[in-house]
Amino acid sequence: MSAAPVGHVDELQAYAESVAGCVRCRLSQGRTQVVFGAGNPHADLMFVGEAPGFHEDRQGLPFVGQAGKLLEQLLAQIGLKRGDVYIANVLMCRPPGNRDPQPDEIEACESHLFRQIELIEPVVVATLGNFATKLLSGRPLGITRVHGQEQETTIGGRSVLLYPLYHPAAALYTPAMLTVLAADFARLPQLLGRSLEPAAPPVESEPGPELKLVAAHAASEQLGLF
Ligand code: URA
Repeated sequence: MSAAPVGHVDELQAYAESVAGCVRCRLSQGRTQVVFGAGNPHADLMFVGEAPGFHEDRQGLPFVGQAGKLLEQLLAQIGLKRGDVYIANVLMCRPPGNRDPQPDEIEACESHLFRQIELIEPVVVATLGNFATKLLSGRPLGITRVHGQEQETTIGGRSVLLYPLYHPAAALYTPAMLTVLAADFARLPQLLGRSLEPAAPPVESEPGPELKLVAAHAASEQLGLF
């Protein structure tokens, strides 16, 4: 757990309340509600996804649909539960028909995400998919190029380890991607433990048999998700 001051928890709550009526972009017109980040306000590990989908919009919580179930399974593989981590999105409102976030929507919403990162003070921020990765890395490189490669960055005046991962929603439909996601996920405990030491070179080799087993298990579990 981080040493985030207790006062930050109240600030986070106050911030969530202050953005519940946000009308900074057009997405406010079609949403059921703003989907603020959720989870442990003292988390060392924070995930950043893309945007709420149908179920998230209805329930007001991030990652409660099928992608969320896979995220929970992946967390379980490393001995963590949803309540141990903090989960947020690039956008807090559902884009119509789950279309991609548009640049002006990301620009309108990004300070809400940055404020959450400042208040949570995570050690590792795992970005899920292209949108979160490009926004937080400030680089245009796509997730296929950079997944599994941690990089140190500064957010809100603090150093954090950025760790790009494939988006679970994409991995749900592509078993090969799920194998890679599970292998990348398996490195999280090590990254959390060693936090800001220099990044190791990316491992290009195939995941070992154990990780393949984990991914195969996740893939078969996936059948029960629909
Ligand atoms: N996909 C996301 O990126 N975020 C969610 O909250 C749900 C699905």
